[in-house]
Amino acid sequence: SWTTGNVIEEQVTAIREQVGDKRAICGLSGGVDSAVAAALVQKAIGSQLTCVYVDHGLMRKGETEQVEKDFVAATGVQLKVVDAEERFLKALAGVSDPEEKRKIIGREFIRVFEQAQAEIIADEGPAVEFLVQGTLYPDVVESGGGTGTANIKSHHNVGGLPDDLEFQLIEPLRKLFKDEVRMVGQELGLPEEIVQRQPFPGPGLGIRIVGEVTKDRLDLLREADAIAREELTAAGLDRDIWQCPVVLLADVRSVGVQGDGRTYGHPIVLRPVSSEDAMTADWSRLPYDVLAKISTRITNEVSDVNRVVLDVTSKPPGTIEWE
Ligand code: XMP
Repeated sequence: SWTTGNVIEEQVTAIREQVGDKRAICGLSGGVDSAVAAALVQKAIGSQLTCVYVDHGLMRKGETEQVEKDFVAATGVQLKVVDAEERFLKALAGVSDPEEKRKIIGREFIRVFEQAQAEIIADEGPAVEFLVQGTLYPDVVESGGGTGTANIKSHHNVGGLPDDLEFQLIEPLRKLFKDEVRMVGQELGLPEEIVQRQPFPGPGLGIRIVGEVTKDRLDLLREADAIAREELTAAGLDRDIWQCPVVLLADVRSVGVQGDGRTYGHPIVLRPVSSEDAMTADWSRLPYDVLAKISTRITNEVSDVNRVVLDVTSKPPGTIEWE
């Protein structure tokens, strides 16, 4: 019968057999799937696994620290963190178009990740032949069920490496649904903040700033987002909502009256939605007192924000994210 204990035991045995005395690498995104996959593989092969975390500077408040400190403390995993904030901000400078932003973030991400990968491969030790991925059952079904190897083109001149690296994939979550992955993560002792984390897009806060992405705007949005998350958690609403993007309308200005006088600041949008699979969604009917608390705190505590608005659009026609 299905228990998290059985799943873990089965996978640990299978992974040990698959990897032998070789090495594996795994990219951590801060999300549940890659974290649980990494923790499972770590349990199986310990220091033969190295994880890579690219800090693109577009994460929410506290999330990078959770990976760097809490996840490492809980698993003992060997982690290589690449601080690439400056590089991403530079690449995003002057760009407002959502698709353009996504392309840039995706491209930079691959470059930084591959560079880190090449450095790990160049380290002393057995050959790195495996790549861990947090593929879930729904992803397998959606993509037609293929598996096996990943071809990773290396664009770097790291001495002695072939241009075209081929990895075998380790996908320990291939048979699991999201709620099962969360249970396995819990059983493995991962921090609650990671196991229960709501979906967060790969391009991060970069696609929650309508307008150009700058460090100041990211810091501002991080504060507003942290307040919204804090109040939703305090109200016990985390399980009722699918996710709640918090969006900064950086290209819009609104007039307000704050403290001693007139302000000319920016609106923040709350986008709480309920959904089963993110394909369709409805806007969440959050209690007015919770919305009021979030609004009061954001306008009081986040400078340059003088207005909080609620998105009451279902999907379709609106997507969950604003960009
Ligand atoms: P939309 O905005 O398309 O979002 O209704 C559906 C779900 O997907 C997430 N999302 C992304 N996730 N990379 C990701 O990993 C992306 O580029 C991306 N765009 C949207 C979104 O947060 C929601 O859960």
